[in-house]
Amino acid sequence: MDRKEFLSAIGLTAASAVVFSCVGCSKSENEGPSNANNPPTDVDFNIDLTAASNAALNNNGGFIYINRIIVAKSTSGAFLAVAQACTHEGTSVTYNGNEGVFFCPNHGSKFLETGVATLGPATVALKRYNTSLNGTTLRVFS
Ligand code: FES
Repeated sequence: MDRKEFLSAIGLTAASAVVFSCVGCSKSENEGPSNANNPPTDVDFNIDLTAASNAALNNNGGFIYINRIIVAKSTSGAFLAVAQACTHEGTSVTYNGNEGVFFCPNHGSKFLETGVATLGPATVALKRYNTSLNGTTLRVFS
């Protein structure tokens, strides 16, 4: 019995199988409207730049997500840290070093490296955090 015959036998069409397969789909816990304007507060943690999981920060233009914050290294080598959740509907923003902006792939909002919204629909800035480099340890703090 092939897939089509199987679905037919249990009363499903290919279309309903697609819908069925998406039941339970959801955004990650870091995304969604509840995070849109609920940035992390009282932030103070260290990032080990020698750890493999943080290797992206050794490259200009690289970024990682940690503790609901996106930490990036600009094309000029400066470390940047802003809230991960887009202020529109909470989707995780990415960093585009070539443009020097944080970008939301959901509806296209853009934010300066300072977090200021420059292209909607988001109008509220991403919360910005301080960074301080000591050897191979990067501190991110409020
Ligand atoms: S969720 Fe980011 S622009 Fe809509």
